[in-house]
Amino acid sequence: MRNYYIAGNWKMHKTVAESVALAKALVAELGSCGERVMIAPAFTALSAVSEAIKGSRIVLGAQNMGPETQGAHTGEVSPWMLKDLGVRAVILGHSERRHSYGESDALVNKKVLLALAEGLEPILCVGETLEEREAGRLEAVVGTQVREGLKGVRAEDLAAVTIAYEPVWAIGTGKTATPDDADAVHAYIRGVIAGLYGEAAAKAMCIQYGGSVKPENAAELMAKPNIDGALVGGASLKAENFGPIANFRS
Ligand code: 13P
Repeated sequence: MRNYYIAGNWKMHKTVAESVALAKALVAELGSCGERVMIAPAFTALSAVSEAIKGSRIVLGAQNMGPETQGAHTGEVSPWMLKDLGVRAVILGHSERRHSYGESDALVNKKVLLALAEGLEPILCVGETLEEREAGRLEAVVGTQVREGLKGVRAEDLAAVTIAYEPVWAIGTGKTATPDDADAVHAYIRGVIAGLYGEAAAKAMCIQYGGSVKPENAAELMAKPNIDGALVGGASLKAENFGPIANFRS
């Protein structure tokens, strides 16, 4: 039976106290959840949430990471600092980082390589805008993001990498890609991985879908052969929504 990877990206939401309350509610709700579950609070809440989920099966993630380990990098957060707080996974190249803060494929790739070198598990986010999709450039855009994002990643490190397909037009809009549409893009991504690393690596690659995932559509998305999990934004902010998504099988 496939093991799914359900991750919550809390984005720029919640104070420390609110984050701890949500984390505790999720520990209670997901005690018997068989999937791999990750939550990524804001940097300011990582330490407190790390304490709140200690001893549970929930993995702690960060939403971003600086491209260096230390030095004169005002405003950045080092992988060393993340590991120090118990962070194991890190979301990289989220479309909001790419489009609102100008992160390039080269910068995202640098972060992916650094995360792997530091023993963190990167979630590499890829996805096309509506304009790109309508111009017939979906595969070119997503393919480039995957190839450039993974440049220099050794085959033996690939198991630590997750890819999240998040069509930009489906993020926070309530518009979900249909399960068939999402699955087709996931299959395309798997083909790109096969071209780079071979069939076995492509088959083993965990590819999450993200973009308006909610309790009502999680099961039908997860039923698709190429969808191995979810990266959830808005619906990860309440235990009564994220709980049923992670527990979509029960
Ligand atoms: P929504 O689930 O709010 O659409 O956000 C998706 C996302 O960006 C997760 O990283």
